[in-house]
Amino acid sequence: MKNAQPTIVVVGSLNSDLVFRAPRLLAPGETLTGTGFDEFAGGKGLNQAVAAARLGARVSMVGRVGADGYGDRLLATLAEAQIDAAAVGRDPAGSGLAFIIVSESTGENIIGILPRANGNLSIADVEAAADAIAAADVLMLQLEVPVATSVRAAEIARAHGTRVILNPAPAQPLSRDVLALCDFVTPNEGEAARLTGIPTDTDDGARGAAEALREQGAAAVVMTLGGRGVYALSAEGERRAPAFPVKVVDTTAAGDAFSGGLAFGLASDLPLDAALRWGCAAGALACTRLGAVPSLPSQAEARALLGGQA
Ligand code: RIB
Repeated sequence: MKNAQPTIVVVGSLNSDLVFRAPRLLAPGETLTGTGFDEFAGGKGLNQAVAAARLGARVSMVGRVGADGYGDRLLATLAEAQIDAAAVGRDPAGSGLAFIIVSESTGENIIGILPRANGNLSIADVEAAADAIAAADVLMLQLEVPVATSVRAAEIARAHGTRVILNPAPAQPLSRDVLALCDFVTPNEGEAARLTGIPTDTDDGARGAAEALREQGAAAVVMTLGGRGVYALSAEGERRAPAFPVKVVDTTAAGDAFSGGLAFGLASDLPLDAALRWGCAAGALACTRLGAVPSLPSQAEARALLGGQA
């Protein structure tokens, strides 16, 4: 740990989530009457930044929002979470948008995104934030901004001993060079299956996919398996952490909350087992409330769920 307070930089997306609530998910070609509509702050980058900040990390964000009302509200969300937004620029392409349908019967969702400003986050943007990345304990990356931009951020981090966590979402093919820059790669079960071609719906399958990702260059793999908990594989061997049972309202941002908890734990110099538990607690709590950013728990809430395991 380089800092007295765990310090994290997030290079990633910010989206306004336009959320349509429905009794269930729609089938192709179907028209269904909804039960409600909301706009929430979201985007995998912003969600992970807020998750880590609410758990107690000092967080800086590198990203782009539009010069529009959505962008104003996304910047207000960063300010409210006390996240340093000096490296969040305004972009004429407009703020990133996510179109989300949430099933009120299962809490499952389907999400389509329009990257807009996120798609313009550049290598120069990241290089301008090099000092913050170098000084941080952990750099968090996802795949809603250009991969070349994330790669440059990871290179800066690796050169200065900052640990790199890549959440490969949405899943897309990644080269060995990219994976080799990551200390932790954190797919969910679907993303791990898409990245490796190995079904992950059994324990053997999850292990096989994690082994394949390590063979492709990732130093360690932390795979979230929904209700089956988390499976991790590193040079030190296997680790598992169970899911906390909760009443599921909306799973949006549960993976982001997990990533925030994992990053908070690692940036606090906790052992991997403990960092996994922080991730599981944050992810479970995020399922209990509607929306992305509004669902992310405080440190007190996570500690209460962790009980003696905090
Ligand atoms: O991971 C959840 C997020 O995915 C949503 O907030 C949405 O913006 C999309 O990026």
